[in-house]
Amino acid sequence: MKILVCGGAGYIGSHTVKELLDRNYEVIVADNLVTGHKGAVDKRAPLYVGDLKDETFLDKVFTEHTIDAVIDFAAYSLVGESVIEPYKYFENNIGGTLSLLKKMREHGVKYIVFSSTAATYGEPENIPILESDRTNPTNPYGDSKLAVEKILHWFDEAYGIKYAVLRYFNAAGAHHSGTIGEDHKPESHLIPIILQAALGQRSHVGIFGDDYPTEDGSCIRDYIHVTDLADAHVLSLEKTMEENKSRTYNLGNGKGFSVKQVVEAARRVTGIDIPAKIEPRRAGDPSVLIASSDKIIKELGWQPKYYTLEEMISTAWNWHKNHPNGFEE
Ligand code: UFG
Repeated sequence: MKILVCGGAGYIGSHTVKELLDRNYEVIVADNLVTGHKGAVDKRAPLYVGDLKDETFLDKVFTEHTIDAVIDFAAYSLVGESVIEPYKYFENNIGGTLSLLKKMREHGVKYIVFSSTAATYGEPENIPILESDRTNPTNPYGDSKLAVEKILHWFDEAYGIKYAVLRYFNAAGAHHSGTIGEDHKPESHLIPIILQAALGQRSHVGIFGDDYPTEDGSCIRDYIHVTDLADAHVLSLEKTMEENKSRTYNLGNGKGFSVKQVVEAARRVTGIDIPAKIEPRRAGDPSVLIASSDKIIKELGWQPKYYTLEEMISTAWNWHKNHPNGFEE
């Protein structure tokens, strides 16, 4: 079975590529390398460098390979940036996947797993968040993902393209082999920033707000290990193909940790007294985001293997301390 992974040079994409290869799938990677890294792509998978909005590029990939299914990670994903540059997010995140779907249709590819996000919910109505809860994004990034979810729904109705939409909460950690991990430039995610402070690459980590209505005043998030996410992609793909039926799942651990708890856990894992300072709130941050992942657990038997923050941060620390400059030589 041959799977095309779009955005396979990115953080979650590269971990899913490894997972697929380890389960004996044939994998083709397409990535424009704008935010992805060539070095993140497993050597067993051929890498096509190009943009999903480029139809000639996609035609080349789909004619050189008989693709059975697609997993689409290719998108910009910074919430803050999306508020400042909405055009960039709508043009790329909707335009890229729409062009991909057009080409899938032309080449008779019927199955897609799509990376969506907790940002589709906006400020949650209930905790834990269920897939059936109201979606009301508070930023263009979330809205661009929700728009694609709607496009997928109508492409299923009209053309029979079956999808699995996966709404991730906070991806964390790195591959157990230590060969790939998180590398965003500039970095904005909490755990890599804490570990950069541990390595002395930053003076400190800023805790964005300590006056939220939570026990310790800092924001609470649901962290999920990147290889547990990768596993969920493979399971979702298999089930979607087997049952020829579309589906939408949340992916989290069902447990929330505050920013202060994450800093404390990182201090324990690294043995370093990582400097932290309270800073003002970051615009647009909901105080608490916790997923209910009961649906994917019940329907697919998915089980996260990493439960504790310490386990997740240990794998991230193993990556960051051995690759302080990420994928740069
Ligand atoms: N935070 C800090 N200091 C930092 C960085 C982050 O205190 O230097 C805090 C944030 O305010 C937030 C928490 O740490 O409360 C997690 O922040 P991240 O930036 O790591 O992650 P987000 O929760 O903002 O973003 C994640 C995904 C997005 C997704 C979003 C949904 O990375 O793709 O959840 O809300 F859109």
